[in-house]
Amino acid sequence: VTGVPRDSISGGKPGEVHSIVLAPGGQQVDITWVAPTQRLSYHSYWFRQYLIDEQRFAGVAADWTDGANFHAQQEFASERDEIASAELSADGTELVVRWADGAEVRLPTEDIWSLSFQEDIATAIEPRVWGPGDPFPGHDFAAIMTLEDAFFDLLVDFARWGILQIFDAPPEPDTVIRIANRIGTLCPSHLGDTFEVKPKDDPDHIGEVCAEIPLHIDLVYRQDPPPVQLLHAIKQVEEGGENEFVDVRRIIELLNPDDLSLLRSTPVDFVADSSRVHFRGRHPILKLDVDRRFEGVFYNQYKIVIPPTTPSGFYFAFERFRHLIRSPEHLCPVKLPEGSVIIFDNRRVLHGRRRFVSASRHLVGAFANGDDFRSRLRVMWRERQVAPARVGP
Ligand SMILES: [Fe+2]
Repeated sequence: VTGVPRDSISGGKPGEVHSIVLAPGGQQVDITWVAPTQRLSYHSYWFRQYLIDEQRFAGVAADWTDGANFHAQQEFASERDEIASAELSADGTELVVRWADGAEVRLPTEDIWSLSFQEDIATAIEPRVWGPGDPFPGHDFAAIMTLEDAFFDLLVDFARWGILQIFDAPPEPDTVIRIANRIGTLCPSHLGDTFEVKPKDDPDHIGEVCAEIPLHIDLVYRQDPPPVQLLHAIKQVEEGGENEFVDVRRIIELLNPDDLSLLRSTPVDFVADSSRVHFRGRHPILKLDVDRRFEGVFYNQYKIVIPPTTPSGFYFAFERFRHLIRSPEHLCPVKLPEGSVIIFDNRRVLHGRRRFVSASRHLVGAFANGDDFRSRLRVMWRERQVAPARVGP
């Protein structure tokens, strides 16, 4: 288990128990904790998971590196189980649970507390919502590639802002691959390990023309669009060609509740259909979890196919969303300097580009995996045991 406590600790230490009550029927133990002051109910099954059969683990699951809880063949619980007693050990550090069938589990109260209250640091970092006038965090290429502390700062910045810039990156075409593999793992696509954003006579995609590109996320027509996108400016132009970015966390705060409800509950299709590919992704425009926390945006006007059965209210909610994202109050234009790499959360940030004339503009793009990024952040966080204040708002 990694992460930080959900609540700050005051007047008690992790694992300190106020009281323990075995509920009638022997199916549940209620523990009241000192800090945070909270009573939680734990089912018999929850304790029974830790009834480990050492014989079955020997030489098998005990050697696994990913922290297996129990052996796949172990039958450790049944609906007939009845807890006979639940009490603290003599020294007060362990909870001893005994069942009517004689089974017994001893768990340090500190471990129960950790399993109950620790939160995932990758989602516990408070997002910094941004708009025009907010300079994105900047990092130095050599520093983030060689110094662990500088690299860790980049990971925290990315979790918080969902966008950042790296400067003084070498002009080689594999620079984005090196950065992608540093912050996560490179995610190749049907475009290859990387993709070119450079005008050409016979364009294969919208990145290969000089025209304006409206706001979108990349590869929205996949069921699982890549979460991390990188763009490396190898050659920039004098006139035009600014990239535009919008923080959808900011937009969500401004939508009226009915529109938000329609945009999160109405799935639409995004399709890329040509002689060579046929991708389809079905998503709501906005994805929120059961606690109404933002999970992602899915949007690209060129690729959307709205099912004819869509409820009529959706259309105008969608139109108000489109109007909001294009407002200069939320749009952040950035002229990417040569030798810089911009990295953004492709599930949170909409991006587009203003038109330009000179065909010499050249960017190289790549995608990276989000789970690998979060894994690296959690590991480095744990190594540093950073005080929560450092990642506050
Ligand atoms: Fe794009």
